[in-house]
Amino acid sequence: MKKLTFLLLITVLLISCNQKSETMPEADSKQLFSALIQTAEQQIGHQVKLIEESGKILNPRTIENGHVQYIPKDDWTSGFFPGTMFYMYDLTGDQKWIEAGIKYTEDLDTIKHLKWHHDVGFMINSSFGNAIRVTGNSAYQEVMVEAARSLATRFRPVAGVIQSWDEDRGWQGQRGWMCPVIIDNMMNLELLFKASRLSGDSTFHKIAVSHATQTMENHYRDDWSCYHVVDYDKEGGGVRSRQNAQGYADESAWARGQAWGIYGFTVAYRYTKDERYLNMAERIYNFLFTHPNMPEDLVPYWDFNAPNIPNEPRDASAAAVIASALYELDGYGMEGYKEKADQIMASLAGDAYKAIVGTNGNFLLMHSVGSIPHGNEIDVPLNYADYYYLEALTRKLAAEK
Ligand code: GLY
Repeated sequence: MKKLTFLLLITVLLISCNQKSETMPEADSKQLFSALIQTAEQQIGHQVKLIEESGKILNPRTIENGHVQYIPKDDWTSGFFPGTMFYMYDLTGDQKWIEAGIKYTEDLDTIKHLKWHHDVGFMINSSFGNAIRVTGNSAYQEVMVEAARSLATRFRPVAGVIQSWDEDRGWQGQRGWMCPVIIDNMMNLELLFKASRLSGDSTFHKIAVSHATQTMENHYRDDWSCYHVVDYDKEGGGVRSRQNAQGYADESAWARGQAWGIYGFTVAYRYTKDERYLNMAERIYNFLFTHPNMPEDLVPYWDFNAPNIPNEPRDASAAAVIASALYELDGYGMEGYKEKADQIMASLAGDAYKAIVGTNGNFLLMHSVGSIPHGNEIDVPLNYADYYYLEALTRKLAAEK
């Protein structure tokens, strides 16, 4: 009954949408997103069913050679599948998604102690952050605060930043870095901001502000595109070098990096109301939407400077992250942003990106890119493309309410 009421509500919201996409009549738009939600229910529902049938708790990230790749808990993407369950609840009202969300979220409990990379923010906020939002269970607050404590161990006070990767571990250890900070790290700040509110300890908030400010000053070029990696001197302070890891080149604009940036500064503005962060989001927006290599459907190539555009893979994950940020920025009075977000959402809901039910390893969106320089996940589905797409859709519906 509750599910029926929610579906009715979603339909009413879609019908009553007054803010039309520039590219699509209202009725078509309504149909497109209703179909998208239906596809999501079937695809992700089937994904959950297969996992349940296995008798294990599995965490799907992508597909490789036609097979779903399940990841360990300490993988940076482990929070997205649990978080997706909560957005499915938002979009359908079906209680079963809450139950699944709780199950897959609670499985990540030990991640609150993870200190060997910065992604604990992504992981715990996407899972437990959404679990708190939807269930209101205060027991999860301790997990958020403990995870923030773990992330705070990576703060390097002299440089004023949170170190993203260990300088002596894995492939990153081969690069000669001292304190590498990647633009992606802006996404971990939400955990810190929330943890300060939950615990009353302002240390986390101060660390987040310091990191965002250093990133604003050191990660961006004159055209307001950003580097992927900035290596800091954690002993003497200041920048040692600016380089690339997952984009095309040191001086190129890796698409998902630009997406993490606009989303991250939007969150920093949400918690501080510091206009400098809102200005950063606006500058990144201008970079993105005036760039000659931004395709007509607004789903970026994996790097704005990839050498063979238009014959380069797109990155649906970057598009979804950007769209979600734009809906929040629309709420801060940024004109025209919602129209751009609506265009992205319509592109991704179309046949070019939305999977046919029963294909794509039961992920929702096709055509994302993990890391081309590492030869990983090229033109595949990714759990975070689905997560940010569904987040963006809940924001879109809320904005149109
Ligand atoms: N945070 C890693 C990535 O965006 O691929």
